[in-house]
Amino acid sequence: MFERLERMPDDPILGLMAAYRADPDARKVDLGVGVYRNDKGETPVLDAVRKAEAAVLARQTSKTYVAPVGNAGFNQSMEKLVFGEGHPAVQAGRVRTIQAPGGCGALRVGAELVHLAYPDATVHVSTPTWANHVPLLTGSGIKLERYAYYDAATGGVNFGAMMEGLEKLPKGAVVLLHGCCHNPTGADLSESQWRDVLALVQRRGLVPFIDMAYQGLGTGIAEDAFGARLFAAGLPEVLVAVSCSKNFGLYRERTGALSVISQTPASAEAILTQLVRIARTMYSMPPDHGAAIVQEILTNDTLRGLWVDEVGTMRNRIAGLRTEAVAQLARAAPQRDFSFIARQRGMFSYLGVTRDQVRELREKHHIYMTDDSRINIAGLKSDNIAYFADAVAQVVT
Ligand SMILES: Cc1ncc(COP(=O)(O)O)c(C=O)c1O
Repeated sequence: MFERLERMPDDPILGLMAAYRADPDARKVDLGVGVYRNDKGETPVLDAVRKAEAAVLARQTSKTYVAPVGNAGFNQSMEKLVFGEGHPAVQAGRVRTIQAPGGCGALRVGAELVHLAYPDATVHVSTPTWANHVPLLTGSGIKLERYAYYDAATGGVNFGAMMEGLEKLPKGAVVLLHGCCHNPTGADLSESQWRDVLALVQRRGLVPFIDMAYQGLGTGIAEDAFGARLFAAGLPEVLVAVSCSKNFGLYRERTGALSVISQTPASAEAILTQLVRIARTMYSMPPDHGAAIVQEILTNDTLRGLWVDEVGTMRNRIAGLRTEAVAQLARAAPQRDFSFIARQRGMFSYLGVTRDQVRELREKHHIYMTDDSRINIAGLKSDNIAYFADAVAQVVT
């Protein structure tokens, strides 16, 4: 049976990570993989997580199964975190949330739900989008198309082209939107643009699927959820996939949630039974540990305060690096405008250099990024940011 299977091509990010590890040069800089790093280049366990984890372990008396829907307390806490206290859709009983194995699991469960409800559905993703959206969403059987989004000339959103594309979509088309900190471009919608997209989605009868993997790492915890909150209040049906990997630093614990907003409490209840069925057919139940930690943090005022501070530290570090990168690049390569980097949000930006220049940065300067020139801003450090800017200046001139 397995003789028929061919070898898969190597994953470009994993290849990049391996090349970085094998590079003996002391100046090497890893801007490839999408994890937060502090100024020492580490991705530490948050203090709030360590404390919550100790409390969870001290209290835990059993490892018996939880449930396909996951930890009910976690699901409720996530609804409050994402939609805010007293959100009208939650109050009206129109929201149901299922814990999922990371944001990826949430995206896949949501895609399965769409496929179940409407097997001919097409999901429309931004150009560009996070590469994993393609296999995660199409793996369910739904089709995928793209709408215009990033404007390389300004480093912002080509909002006119985006709206023009969305305007042409048929009723019932699913539109994937990044809740905040767009991956890979860092170009987010402004509040007024979110409002304009909402009006279009209402008028055209589209179904938004919001992917929020970076809440708190852009502008603020509530601010980053602006679009998700606005859409959940203003539309009959919305899906929101959330990840706790980055903002809680729980990457390997596979912690996330999918919230589905529907028209009535009765349809919400029916949807929950379908979500449970989907979970059972794929992985039965999500892993407990990360969700138990998040629930502990979000329901304990002291831990929550600590976590809010720690998310603030990560956010401020990224924003500071963006400002500093622009200043250093302006010094080293004054002929080229990199100021867009400071206008973007979250961990990623496109540096906007060619594939050959990316290769030159890697081979001559030991600076690693994906071929499309996506850089993880959090991979920069105060002691290598000038080196990075000098290297970029050398390859672009
Ligand atoms: C845009 C986006 N969505 C979702 C995820 C899901 O992450 P995870 O499955 O690790 O929670 C990521 C992680 O990199 C992401 O960048």
